Amino acid sequence: MRTPFIAGNWKMHKTVGEAVEAARKLEELVQGSPVEVAICAPFTSLAALSALGLSKVKLGAQNMYWADQGAFTGEISAAMLLDVGCEYVILGHSERRHIFKEDDELINKKVLQALQKGLKPILCVGETLEERRAGQTENVVVTQTTRGLAGVGADKLPTVVIAYEPVWAIGTGEYCDAADANQVIARIRQTLAELYSEELAQQVRIQYGGSVKPGNIREFMEQPEIDGALVGGASLDAEGFASIVRY
Ligand code: PGA
Repeated sequence: MRTPFIAGNWKMHKTVGEAVEAARKLEELVQGSPVEVAICAPFTSLAALSALGLSKVKLGAQNMYWADQGAFTGEISAAMLLDVGCEYVILGHSERRHIFKEDDELINKKVLQALQKGLKPILCVGETLEERRAGQTENVVVTQTTRGLAGVGADKLPTVVIAYEPVWAIGTGEYCDAADANQVIARIRQTLAELYSEELAQQVRIQYGGSVKPGNIREFMEQPEIDGALVGGASLDAEGFASIVRY
């Protein structure tokens, strides 16, 4: 059985004080939930969140660079994230792919580095509206999954989380039909089975992301292939996010 995993992606929101207040509230509100919970906060808040010593809410980052250290102005390493208490790191988010022009090759280097250093990647994949209209959804997610995981050993695969996030559903209020999302996620799992084995594919958690709200989370969680959610806008408010976790 895969443990459901719901993660909040705060994106470029919250000062340290705001982050600490929201995380404290969330920690209280989700106590006792059987769902694994994480918040992926901006780099600037991670140390302060880690110092809270939260037990239920885990920490993640939203990006990292693949090198150990060096002359990479503005970048953050895996060791730095581990040092401030991160367990997870989102990699290949569509905003990184589209605004910051990250490609599968770069994302793959980050995935390999995260795993080598002991961070759990949340690898994001998903099609644009244009690709969906052209009937390319499955091709896109299969390619992004395959390239993103290139060189990942079978021993590391179960620590990888994949987030299926259709680009047209992110931050738009327009969410993917839950049965459709289930079908795409089943295709991602089939890809894992082809690349590794059916047994390993069954161990990997695959989230849905894109306009998840308290009012629609249950539809997604009722689907057999969907193991959780990556939540953007609706994770900013602790009470709203807690009600998603408590779907
Ligand atoms: P959203 O973002 O929930 O605001 O649509 C999801 C994401 O970008 O991970």
